[in-house]
Amino acid sequence: MIEPQAVLAPLSRAAFVLVVTIDDGADAAARTRDLCGDLPGLVRSVGFRDLEAQLSCVVGFGAAAWSRIFDGPKPARLHALPLIRGAKHEAVSTPGDLVFHIRATRPDLCFELATQILSRLDGAAMAVDETQGFRFFDFRDLLGYVDGTENPTGPASVQAALIGSEDPDFEGGSYLVVQKYLHDLAAWNTLSVEQQNNIIGRDKLSNVELDDDAIPSSAHRLLTTIKDADGTEHKIMRDNMPFGSPAKGEFGTYFIGYAARPSVIEQMLRNMFIGDPAGNYDRILDFSRAVTGNLFFVPSKTFLDALGD
Ligand code: HEM
Repeated sequence: MIEPQAVLAPLSRAAFVLVVTIDDGADAAARTRDLCGDLPGLVRSVGFRDLEAQLSCVVGFGAAAWSRIFDGPKPARLHALPLIRGAKHEAVSTPGDLVFHIRATRPDLCFELATQILSRLDGAAMAVDETQGFRFFDFRDLLGYVDGTENPTGPASVQAALIGSEDPDFEGGSYLVVQKYLHDLAAWNTLSVEQQNNIIGRDKLSNVELDDDAIPSSAHRLLTTIKDADGTEHKIMRDNMPFGSPAKGEFGTYFIGYAARPSVIEQMLRNMFIGDPAGNYDRILDFSRAVTGNLFFVPSKTFLDALGD
């Protein structure tokens, strides 16, 4: 039976995301591959110290890294995240060979696992971004809105996030898009709550959806609802994390989205940045700048275990 990585782990109190680039040379690629094979064991070693803290780690591979690390077939839909340029805002595509998405109810376990991973990669790869995310009040992002409500649950989450028989070599895998957004909170806070509600498409206090007819067609929740011509909706699994540094005036949302098909997330990004129709872009972006962006393939845990054997 094919076991996925912890893609569908519940939204956690703490998360660390490491984006790493692999050094040149075959040795660096081989050492990175070894670490990935040992990763399930490493997670068990650190996680066993407090089982209730539910430590998990998902590793994903960028398109160029996949070909360097693995022989054999490539996941059917793996490619670099394209740059998406709207008239006013752009979704950047930045360097990143590997991602480690580490979650737990306690940040110390995330910290320990991140340290262990990077010490194993010392001299073979380096972190180009480390984001230490925390869960803010009521699952709110730093814009003040409850974030994650519309995530699918149960069988629908499996269908949204995990590859099935359409790519048999990579069943149980997933695609992961991450983007680091920095908010201009001072500007956001000059808006009235009603203006903010119109941008998000929900009521800030109650978290209840506002009627489609009562909000602009540029509302975030409308632009990120993807439907086929026959009305079938395509969902993704999100685990956005707030992060920041009050001392540096840095306030952000780390977007983390898993999907069985990356085209669903890319369509959401086009709707947000270019607009639907073009020009009708997501006003969240007038207050949030994407400073990183990557697309990774997340193989199944069965695939990782086989590397370690
Ligand atoms: C919904 C915040 C970026 C996809 C939401 C909601 C909030 C939110 C507050 C409403 C509650 C919920 O269902 O979770 C943000 C912030 C972002 C961000 C602060 C970054 C600054 C993105 C990106 C994507 C995305 C980049 C996809 C590429 C979605 C989807 C929904 C959603 C699919 C659910 C829509 C629905 O079915 O109602 N987001 N989001 N978000 N967001 Fe985002």
